[in-house]
Amino acid sequence: MDFVLKGNLCYSEAPERLATLPDGYVVCVGGECRGTFETLPAQYAGLPLVDAGEALVMPGMNDLHLHAPQFAYRGTGMDLELIDWLNTRAYPEESKYADLDYAARAYDHFVDAMRRSATTRFCCFATLHAPATLLLMEKLEAAGLCGYVGKVSMNRYAPETLCELGDRAARDCEVWFVEAEARFAHVKPIITPRFIPSCTDALLRSLGELMRRYGAPLQSHLSENRTEIRWVEQLCPDSAGYADAYDRFGMLTPRTVMAHVVYPEPDEIELLRERGVMVAHCPASNMNIRSGIAPVRRLLKAGVRVGLGTDVAGGQTIDMFRAVTDAVQVSKLYWRLIDQRQRALTLPEAFYLATVGGGAYFGKVGTFAEGYAFDAIVVDDSGLPHPQPMTVAERLERAMYLSGECRITHKYVNGEPVLA
Ligand code: GUN
Ligand code: FE
Repeated sequence: MDFVLKGNLCYSEAPERLATLPDGYVVCVGGECRGTFETLPAQYAGLPLVDAGEALVMPGMNDLHLHAPQFAYRGTGMDLELIDWLNTRAYPEESKYADLDYAARAYDHFVDAMRRSATTRFCCFATLHAPATLLLMEKLEAAGLCGYVGKVSMNRYAPETLCELGDRAARDCEVWFVEAEARFAHVKPIITPRFIPSCTDALLRSLGELMRRYGAPLQSHLSENRTEIRWVEQLCPDSAGYADAYDRFGMLTPRTVMAHVVYPEPDEIELLRERGVMVAHCPASNMNIRSGIAPVRRLLKAGVRVGLGTDVAGGQTIDMFRAVTDAVQVSKLYWRLIDQRQRALTLPEAFYLATVGGGAYFGKVGTFAEGYAFDAIVVDDSGLPHPQPMTVAERLERAMYLSGECRITHKYVNGEPVLA
């Protein structure tokens, strides 16, 4: 459907340049953005008009890292660190997804929340169960969302029910990958080794070969927690570091998303830049399970690609507006407590990371420039009345900080309505 969306537009032109256009027009033709206009050009005057009135209109959020099967227990079990949290919270819950009825109920809740959220595109983990993962993909596709879903690969240091056996791990991944690739148009499969401690070298080698055979994308976790990093050092004595433990299997490419990167060594930052890896910064999760603060400014200065993730259920919410303000807030603590050479992120910068930064993983996604995918949300902030005049930029900042008091009323992905 070709149409025109009218409202108070906000979108990024550059990391520190937030553009606003009160009562502006953004035009969608063939699922793509044809630009933003103060007055509607005559050539588009015949298109249907969706008038968002006083509401804010902005690009959709790109959530680069979350765990669909952990959504059900979000907001609980936050008093543990990563490894204990995996063993006592994540793994017992994920074991339940062997039961397709349980998976269907849980994933209905997840997909319904995703549909109503500010997120238009995502990279998410499922569990190692192929049938439940296909079911999740089916539901996300039916909801009109766009993104990647990974059947998790893992074969050690977990309960028996979550350890894939022998050569079957890689074979099952390939069978799932091929079926998913053929079956879905907007939800695509992504190779997903859980993290280094969960995968033997033999499994990683096979998954690396799969990546190359199919030109496939990959997602995993990198340098999240100090105990985890020490464990990886012990498990991989021949690796130059945690990033190299993936790189030696060819797993670091421009189609790779690595979550966290809280404690990168300087040579690892250089490797991530050189390989074009996308880092998913997940500030809420890093606070909740006490991992630390990722050095986002250092990554950005070095030229590493960075987007934001909620990492539900390490993060407690799929609300990406919250991820934007968490990113700003933890960067202030990083500057204050850790390194005063690393300037805090501004709100426009964090908004850029959530839209354009992470959007780059999906192609031309994340802003309203001509030729970008028409991914847009309409944000009703009328629940935040104010006696004083406010600019659109101020209203955007407040919508991020007070997201719970705002409502997403419309959402479009590739120009298709997902929420209306
Ligand atoms: N590392 C390995 N698995 C996980 C997970 O499920 N969540 C987080 N935050 N880190 C991980
Ligand atoms: Fe995670």
